[in-house]
Amino acid sequence: MDLQIKSFADYQKTYQYSVEKPEEFWAGVADHFYWRRKWNKVLDWNFKDPKIKWFEGGRLNITENCLDRHIYKLGDKPAIIWEPNDPNEAHRVLTYKQLLEKVEQFANVLKNNGIRKGDRVCIYLPMVPELAIAVLACARIGAIHSVVFGGFSAQSIADRINDADCRLVITSDGSFRGTKTIELKSIVDDALVQCKSVERVIVLTRTRTPVSMIKGRDVWWEDEITKVETQGNPACPAEEMDAEDMLFILYTSGSTGKPKGVVHTCGGYMVYTGYTFANVFQYQPSEVYFCTADIGWITGHSYIVYGPLSQGATSLMFEGVPTWPDAGRLWDIVEKHKVNILYTAPTAIRSLMAAGDSFVDNKDLSSITKLGSVGEPINEEAWHWYDEKIGKGNAPIADTWWQTENGGILISPIAGITPTIPGYAMLPLPGIQPALFDEQGNEIEGNGVSGNLCMKFPWPGMLRTTYGDHERCRQTYFATYENMYFTGDGCLRDENGYYRITGRVDDVLNVSGHRIGTAEVENAINMHSDVVESAVVGYPHAVKGQGIYAFVIAGNHHTDENLTRQDINKTVSRIIGAIAKPDKIQFVSGLPKTRSGKIMRRILRKIAEGEVSNLGDTTTLLDPAVVEEIKAGAEQLRG
Ligand code: WT7
Repeated sequence: MDLQIKSFADYQKTYQYSVEKPEEFWAGVADHFYWRRKWNKVLDWNFKDPKIKWFEGGRLNITENCLDRHIYKLGDKPAIIWEPNDPNEAHRVLTYKQLLEKVEQFANVLKNNGIRKGDRVCIYLPMVPELAIAVLACARIGAIHSVVFGGFSAQSIADRINDADCRLVITSDGSFRGTKTIELKSIVDDALVQCKSVERVIVLTRTRTPVSMIKGRDVWWEDEITKVETQGNPACPAEEMDAEDMLFILYTSGSTGKPKGVVHTCGGYMVYTGYTFANVFQYQPSEVYFCTADIGWITGHSYIVYGPLSQGATSLMFEGVPTWPDAGRLWDIVEKHKVNILYTAPTAIRSLMAAGDSFVDNKDLSSITKLGSVGEPINEEAWHWYDEKIGKGNAPIADTWWQTENGGILISPIAGITPTIPGYAMLPLPGIQPALFDEQGNEIEGNGVSGNLCMKFPWPGMLRTTYGDHERCRQTYFATYENMYFTGDGCLRDENGYYRITGRVDDVLNVSGHRIGTAEVENAINMHSDVVESAVVGYPHAVKGQGIYAFVIAGNHHTDENLTRQDINKTVSRIIGAIAKPDKIQFVSGLPKTRSGKIMRRILRKIAEGEVSNLGDTTTLLDPAVVEEIKAGAEQLRG
C-alpha cells in the first residue's frame, strides 16, 4: 500500500477499505514508519470508559522517525528554514543532519539537568528553531512536553505547570513580535512563585533583555550546550517508547472550568500526523512547506514539527507577525524561500485582505502550488481572495477541519485530488467516520441534513485522556452521545455528502483561530473587585471571526466606565492573557435569567450579534424588563 492517495478513485477505494477493515488499513499505514518492535495488536478500544489503544506493544521513538531515518538520504536537505521577526536579520537553515545533532545535544542538556523518561517539561518559547529543538529533545528522551503559547499570562503558565507537575521549564529572555519585545523569562518568574514542582529553568538568549537568573534554579541554554560539548559524547540515543506512552500534553479550553490537558501518545499520533500531512498537502520531496501557526498550538505541533519532519519535508517556521513591517510579510517570505505549500488561518487571510491588494500584487507567488486553511470556518470572500490572489486560481485550497483533541486533520479536501467548495471541509480522510446527531441523541442519516458532529470510530491521532482526570475526558467528549466522540461542532452534510462545519454548539469561542471558553473569560472578569457578575458571548467579527462580548454587572467605585473597562481588560490579561480580552464590554444592571437562575445566553448572543428584532420567547425570564435595558445599552455601545 502506498502512503499517498493518487486519484479520486484511489481516495474512494482507500476510504472504503479504511472503514471496512480499519485495523488492516492502519497497520498498512503504520508500516511506513520505523518501529523498533512491531505492535501485537492494532487497536483496542471502547468509547464508554473511554479506552483507546493503538499499536499496543509496538516500540518506537518518534524522533527516530522524524530525524534519524532520513539522515542517509536526506541528511543535507533543509529540515527547518527559519525566518526571523525582523526581515533584516539573517534567516537560518537547519538540515536534517544539523537538526538531529542539535536535538541530541539538547536532549543531553535535559538529561544533565535531571530529566528522565516520563518527567513533564513546560516549554514557553518564541517561534525560534530552539522551540522545535526543545520539543524534539523531550521526545528523544521520553520526557513529556507541555508547550504553552507565548501569549498566555503568568497565571495560565502556573496553572498548566501545576496541573502537570512539571519539573523543568524552558524559556527565553524575551520574544520579538513586530515592534514589541515581550519579556518571557520575567513572566515565567511570576508564574513560578506558585509552582513548587519546578527545579530548573533553562533560558535561551533571544532578545538580550535583562533577566533575573536565580542561583541554583536558572541556567542559560548556551552554557548548558557548552557543558555537553566539553563532555565529549554529543550523541543521545533515542529512548525506546511504547506506542501508548505519553508524547505530550497540550492544554485547551472547554465550555467549563480550567483548560484541560489533552494527552497524545507516541505511536498513534506519529502515524496519524505523518499520514495526514503526506496526503492532505500531497507533499512532494523537493517542496518547501510553510505553516504560519505557532508551535504553542496543536497546528504547530502536528504540522510544523511532527507531521512534516516524519515525512522528510522542509518545514518553514516564522517568528513574526503577518502584518509587520507591513502586510506583505508573508508574501515576501513565500517569494524569498519559494514556498510551495502555504497553510494559514482565515483570520490571517482576512486581515491581509483588508490591508489591500497592493501588498500582494507586486510579489512573485508563482512557487505556490497548494494552499491550506485551518482554525475556524473560512468565509467565502476570504476563500476567493486566497484562491485568486495567492493561489492565482490554480492552487487547490484544503480547508482542514480538526481539533486539538484530534491530533491531526479529520475532514478536508486532499489537495488536487478531492473536490473543493468555498467554506466546506468536504470529505472525511480515510479512517474517519463522521456522524450527525440531533439534540435528542438520534443519528441523522442521509444527505442534505445538519446536526452535531460526532465520530463513530477511533483514529490513531485522537486524544487518550485529559491529564490527571480521565473522568473529565469521558464527560466532555464521550458522554453526550452513546458510543460516540462528540466534537462540540455543528455541521451540515449537503446533498452530495460534503461536510460544512458551521461552528461550535457549546460555550467555546473561536477568536482569531484561538479557542477560548466563555466560562474561563467570565471567571477572569469576575476576579476584578468591582465586578458583581458577568456573561460572555461571541459575536461576528470581521477579522477575528468571533469577537468577545462581555455583559458586566459592576459596582460603582468609579464613575468612568472606560476606566473600568480598562481595569477589566487588565484583569483578563493577567488571569488568562491578552488574547482573551473582551472586544466589547457592556455594563448592565442585570442579566436575563430563568426562574431557576440560569443565564439565557441565547438572548445575549442575539443582542451581541445586533439581531434584536426576534429574541424568541422571553416570557420565562425572571425579569423580562432587563432585556429592554440591555437592548438599549447595546444600541448605544454600537453607537
Ligand atoms: C475548533 C478546534 C486544530 C486546528 C486549530 C484549532 C474550529 C478548526 C476548522 C475549519 C471550521 C474549524 C472548530 C473546532 N475549526 N478548523 N477548517 N473549519 N471550523 O484547534 O483550538 O482545538 O479548535 O476550531 O470549531 O472544534 P482548536
